[in-house]
Amino acid sequence: MIPSLATIADLRQWRARQAGTVGFVPTMGALHEGHASLVRRSAAKNAATLVSIFVNPTQFGPNEDLDKYPRTLEADLRLCEQAGATAVFTPDNAMMYPPGFATWVTVEGMTDKLCGKSRPGHFRGVTTVVAKLFNLAQPTRAYFGQKDAQQALVLTRMAIELDMPLEVITCPTVREADGLAMSSRNRYLAAPDRQRALALFGALQAVQAAFKAGQRDVPMLRQAGLAILTPSVDRVDYLEILNAHDLGEITTVQGKALCAVAAFVGTTRLIDNVILGG
Ligand code: PAJ
Repeated sequence: MIPSLATIADLRQWRARQAGTVGFVPTMGALHEGHASLVRRSAAKNAATLVSIFVNPTQFGPNEDLDKYPRTLEADLRLCEQAGATAVFTPDNAMMYPPGFATWVTVEGMTDKLCGKSRPGHFRGVTTVVAKLFNLAQPTRAYFGQKDAQQALVLTRMAIELDMPLEVITCPTVREADGLAMSSRNRYLAAPDRQRALALFGALQAVQAAFKAGQRDVPMLRQAGLAILTPSVDRVDYLEILNAHDLGEITTVQGKALCAVAAFVGTTRLIDNVILGG
């Protein structure tokens, strides 16, 4: 079994022993093929690959699923090893956030859009924990999924603007055979809801089809997606089309645009996205 590093001291010792490049894959566990794809990508390119498993409390809102977030540590460790990880970092809350913790990292502007709008404080938690994890792991490269497109953009920006000495790499979304984007939260879905959840990717495909047919008007493209999404889910949080580089508002798709969707199926909030053009 690969080493499981439970403390910051263990991690620092492990890191000090690494002579070559270190790839890093931060996660919250309940790992699936999407996570495995990041680990494999890192293992192919770096001498060592570290995965962190930490359900970060500061990125969850008061009424979100922190307490019921799936925890599957044994299976996660096996998946990490099979995908080529060298070590796994599993800190606890007290280690990451000792009493009196008061330092936060925030990226402004971009984090007011999409998930940032409906989950206030979420990205402040993400950027803070990832900044801490980067300082601890001191990776050469860090790997994130396009599945969480806004998160990948925000973290790329944070690393550049805070001069963090590493490369942030965004990897493609891994999907189930029927198109559903893999997510730790998919395991909350009972069979009928699992079926309805397909409407997220269905809506994105409808937008893509309209785009391929020549439609460039953002309100029209949104309408094509919402026509599929709205009848199938319990609540649409957003379906938006924004500039893919900075999440700026657009009315016509010219360069690369991000079409991102978030919706509730039952009580489960799911997200997905595709890139248009560029
Ligand atoms: P988590 O949701 O566990 O995701 C960890 C990484 O796996 C993220 O970079 C996410 O984008 C990626 N990922 C998830 N599903 C994917 C899929 N279907 N295809 C490709 N990549 C996928 O994202 C987080 O954890 C946290 O916010 C974290 C960055 C660890 C900070 O706490």
